[in-house]
Amino acid sequence: MNTTGNPAVGDSGRSGPRLEAALGDITAEPVDAIVNAANSSLLGGGGVDGAIHRAAGPELLEHCRTLGGCDTGDAKITPGFRLEARWVIHTVGPVWHGGTRGEADLLASCYRSSLARADEVGASSVAFPAISTGVYGYPAGPAAAIAVRTVRSTPTKVRLVRFMCFNTEALDAYQALLDSQSP
Ligand code: AR6
Repeated sequence: MNTTGNPAVGDSGRSGPRLEAALGDITAEPVDAIVNAANSSLLGGGGVDGAIHRAAGPELLEHCRTLGGCDTGDAKITPGFRLEARWVIHTVGPVWHGGTRGEADLLASCYRSSLARADEVGASSVAFPAISTGVYGYPAGPAAAIAVRTVRSTPTKVRLVRFMCFNTEALDAYQALLDSQSP
């Protein structure tokens, strides 16, 4: 696994989670919780959502049917069923409309809400996909900057955050952000 990281001591000196970027399939990550880039129905889809449902097994969809969907920018948590991860945190990213419809705030809210769900169950390690950057069309560079900035600035008990990248361009973008100490 091509894993790199930094110690992620926050700008205030407060010790936040360690942040890492890694190349690979999030469904195989041996962390406490993986984050799903879902849609508001929470009833599955393509991309990382489809991969997580396939790997977790049909119990995940059965459980998701009981949740009543999820608003954009919010997050809900389920067991991981057949996944190595104990939990799946389902968040709904914004569809990219050119940046004029509050997409940046909504994307940041996905990261904050996901960390809040992780804190509620005591998950100490969390892997995120690049939310909204596939089917939903959010440009990858700005989305990565929001991901890193938001996780760095959100108080959490999570000790490790791993940003899972599906190609080397994404990994390079995350790595450059993690190497920079600017917020
Ligand atoms: N592991 C890690 N990253 C992945 C994986 C994987 N197994 N599969 C894809 N990616 P997307 P969105 C990357 O489209 O843009 C679904 O149908 C992918 O390369 O999965 O938030 C939902 O149901 C991209 O960088 O999510 C929604 O309807 C990133 O994950 C809609 O798509 C996100 O791509 C959500 O769209």
